[in-house]
Amino acid sequence: MRDFISMKDFTKGEILRILKLAKSLKENPQGNLLGDKIVSSLFFEPSTRTRLSFTSAAYRVGAKVLGFDSPDATSLKKGESLRDTIKMTGAYSDVIVMRHPIDGAARFATEVSNVPIINGGDGANEHPSQTLLDLYTIQEEMGKIENLKIAFVGDLKYGRTVHSLSKALSMFNCEFYFVAPDLIQIPEHILKFLNNRNIKYTLVDDYKDILPEIDVMYMTRIQRERFENLDEYEKVKTVYEIDKNSIVGKCKEEMIILHPLPRVTEINIDLDDTKHALYFKQAANGVPVREAMYAIALGKYHLDEDEMDVE
Ligand code: CP
Repeated sequence: MRDFISMKDFTKGEILRILKLAKSLKENPQGNLLGDKIVSSLFFEPSTRTRLSFTSAAYRVGAKVLGFDSPDATSLKKGESLRDTIKMTGAYSDVIVMRHPIDGAARFATEVSNVPIINGGDGANEHPSQTLLDLYTIQEEMGKIENLKIAFVGDLKYGRTVHSLSKALSMFNCEFYFVAPDLIQIPEHILKFLNNRNIKYTLVDDYKDILPEIDVMYMTRIQRERFENLDEYEKVKTVYEIDKNSIVGKCKEEMIILHPLPRVTEINIDLDDTKHALYFKQAANGVPVREAMYAIALGKYHLDEDEMDVE
């Protein structure tokens, strides 16, 4: 049994074994792998990809799903605590997938739950399942994860996908460019994490300065819902908008553009049919990756090198 809360809870070897299991499940579907299991899907915040791909992944390995896509129709409206909600849903299921607006809510859930917790995003903190599908996509497309130059562009302050992915990539000897205005630059605690591991990074204002050098451009949405002051959001909401004209012919031939989605105006749809645009394939990879996460969370596979036998 294993929780998925933060990427710092996993070693490089464990991450690679999760990706290997996901690849195996993509190539050799196992429709009854978790046929006796029930998943609780608790979404306290809106979601399209994470909730639906976790649900799809459960169905593809034979598990059943219960839960909610908004707290409005639950007893939280009557004042029930998160603690009691987790205790009750754990009694009705074998694993809990949870998205919550408060940083640290997923870690808290592990302290009161009798079943494994999978963090589907907690506030501006982390989004580990997104990171695993990001890594899966990078490995599938680039043939490796090591020694790449990655530019994170956009809302690096509130973008939990950036926080999780930069922690994970710090294990793969990658070099980072954090491209954002000061208002939404990468938080100090992430830079401290990277400094402690001697990871090379540069803070950048204009992506055009580093575009020819990078292997992966990780675009993000400016997260309006997390700004306390909407005047600040107005100042930065359209700060980086890329299109075919600004990218094609100006980057490496093999550079890929990733985005956790949803997008708003930061990637023009005219980029969608270029070879650089990987974001829809990336989102689709969420299904086998989340199948693998269930299998590990529920103890069908163990991440110990000797015990994991995946072809
Ligand atoms: N990438 C992601 O978390 O998308 P959703 O918010 O639609 O789940």
